[in-house]
Amino acid sequence: MTQSPGQGNALDNLLTESRTFPPSDEFAAQANAQPALYEEAKADREAFWAKQAERLHWDTKWDQVLDWSGAPFAKWFVGGKLNVAYNCVDRHVESGHGDQVAIHWEGEPGDSRAITYAELQREVSKAANALTSLGIGAEDRVAIYMPMVPEAIFAMLACARVGAMHSVVFGGFSAEALRTRIEDSACRLVITTDGQYRRGNPAPLKPAVDEAVAGAPSVEKVIVVKRTDTEVAWTDKDVWWHELVDSQSDQHTPEAFDSEHPLFILYTSGTTGKPKGILHTSGGYLTQASYTHNYVFDLKPDTDVYWCTADIGWVTGHSYIVYGPLSNRVTQVVYEGTPNTPHEGRHWEIVQKYGVSIYYTAPTLIRTFMKWGADIPAKYDLSSLRVLGSVGEPINPEAWIWYRENVGGGKAPIVDTWWQTETGAIMISPLPGVVSTKPGSAQRPLPGIGAKVVNDEGVEVEHGGGGYLVLDEPWPSMLRGIWGDEERYRDTYWSRFGEQGFYFAGDGAKYDADGDIWLLGRVDDVMNVSGHRISTTEVESALVSHPTVAEAAVVGASDDTTGQGIVAFVILRGGAGADAGGAEAIKALRDHVAKEIGPIAKPRQIMVVPELPKTRSGKIMRRLLRDVAENRTVGDVTTLADSSVMDLISAGLQSGKAED
Ligand code: PRX
Repeated sequence: MTQSPGQGNALDNLLTESRTFPPSDEFAAQANAQPALYEEAKADREAFWAKQAERLHWDTKWDQVLDWSGAPFAKWFVGGKLNVAYNCVDRHVESGHGDQVAIHWEGEPGDSRAITYAELQREVSKAANALTSLGIGAEDRVAIYMPMVPEAIFAMLACARVGAMHSVVFGGFSAEALRTRIEDSACRLVITTDGQYRRGNPAPLKPAVDEAVAGAPSVEKVIVVKRTDTEVAWTDKDVWWHELVDSQSDQHTPEAFDSEHPLFILYTSGTTGKPKGILHTSGGYLTQASYTHNYVFDLKPDTDVYWCTADIGWVTGHSYIVYGPLSNRVTQVVYEGTPNTPHEGRHWEIVQKYGVSIYYTAPTLIRTFMKWGADIPAKYDLSSLRVLGSVGEPINPEAWIWYRENVGGGKAPIVDTWWQTETGAIMISPLPGVVSTKPGSAQRPLPGIGAKVVNDEGVEVEHGGGGYLVLDEPWPSMLRGIWGDEERYRDTYWSRFGEQGFYFAGDGAKYDADGDIWLLGRVDDVMNVSGHRISTTEVESALVSHPTVAEAAVVGASDDTTGQGIVAFVILRGGAGADAGGAEAIKALRDHVAKEIGPIAKPRQIMVVPELPKTRSGKIMRRLLRDVAENRTVGDVTTLADSSVMDLISAGLQSGKAED
């Protein structure tokens, strides 16, 4: 199912980019990372990771750093015991930082709340006691379906504290998407809110939970945080957060769990219609989240104000809002809303208000800011910013330079961080103050990490060559499997280069002449829309579940703002009616996908076609459809079963009525 990496002209564009930006002497002198870090890791990888694990508080020290004898299932810090929430909260209070603000929370309507570490400890303790009162304990699964309110973070940490696994489901996913995720891991509890603010208005959230829970018998209770004061239907499973949690004691003694105790499940799209429940455990995950957050963002806990704009529904929110930053005693901004509510300068207003010094966001948002215009950030004082980060998709050099000039004042280093839900933490990124940055390149594996670009045979390519990105050494925050599906875990990540024992990331990449890595996008049937992974099959299944659709093929077409946009080709059923291809009907199909998966999966464009291009064995040739979607001349059709199909599709498009 893999295509050859480096298709299209992305590679050529990247090859013309040769600018480099060395760190300033001032930055380099004060940087957490020094060049010796690479040497140290190379000299003794396990000793290096053991040293990083010392960043945490262990109730019992480990006996063995890594046990890889059960590959591809790793065990890190074997025999060690710790409590993840204690490491993120209590120990900072105990070391005298109870009055330090942990979270400057900024609500979309303009309300705000400063939460100190002492307060965080009380809130998490109360929530942990509430979980215990409901009989939730070690290894139970708790679904969290919430907007970016402080209680979402309290809930995650409370789960960690009692050893329960959280499964955070992005609040933009549909009831059906929530239901399948709850069902897959048999969650006993759901934590949600009555509603959420979206673009200035309260929107209901709980009805989706009601719908999901009605079809998910494992759920015994639903805790509801009152956020928008929207009237909600009530069932006998429901309990208000303010009634249950606020009446609990704010004292709670954390229990130490095994280093390999499961911490969370997070679902992500794969190449089939069924999302994968990525499983992460405690000690190794927290070690790498903490280590990377410290060095990649150059965090100074006493002076920095950090802001990661991700949602806790994605892995970036897990590792770089909750676990990494809090384990490092960060002071951070958490923002509830959208970047243009109530105006397009909202982010910069927040940077100015809190003096944000480290800002971590996604290329799609940077490109949106570019569209809105450089005059907007120029109106604000952004001089506090000293490190900028990017994550989720390849950042094009234009956006990188714009970010540097208009947000970073032409001087803040940009760290382009490559990683995945599966890797748990950052794997490839320049270290600020050490590495001269290059616009568009994630550059090199962090100290302690092994990554390579290899050809079809698993042989490393020469500098200047392209191929597949693989990870050739186990790493502490690696996934420990796919929930309930060992075979899929082995197949997806470990079979492509099974002989070599490499983890196959699913990304194409290339080395430049210096051996720096440039990511080229996915090589499988996974799209990357605004930094979110959506599988083509998932959208196809949603489309064919609509009564008017006979067949569907979905491709990710390049998009100036979102990286890729979803383009669907559908064949309608015979009896679908004359108007089934009309604008109304197309809108209904887009809405249907939003209902099945969530608004993020709504196709940008739906084209009604009489046929789909297939090989003789019946496989849809997405490559040709991508050509159509990107308005290119259709490529080689010799392997098509019926080469006239592409003419039919093109003819259909020219009629103009097929587009949304
Ligand atoms: O294709 C790569 C892309 O995002 C995928 C991982 O998606 P997800 O698990 O949702 O995690 C996103 C946040 C870590 C990768 O396989 N990706 C992520 N970061 C980058 C990237 N592509 C290029 N450059 C990056 N910095």
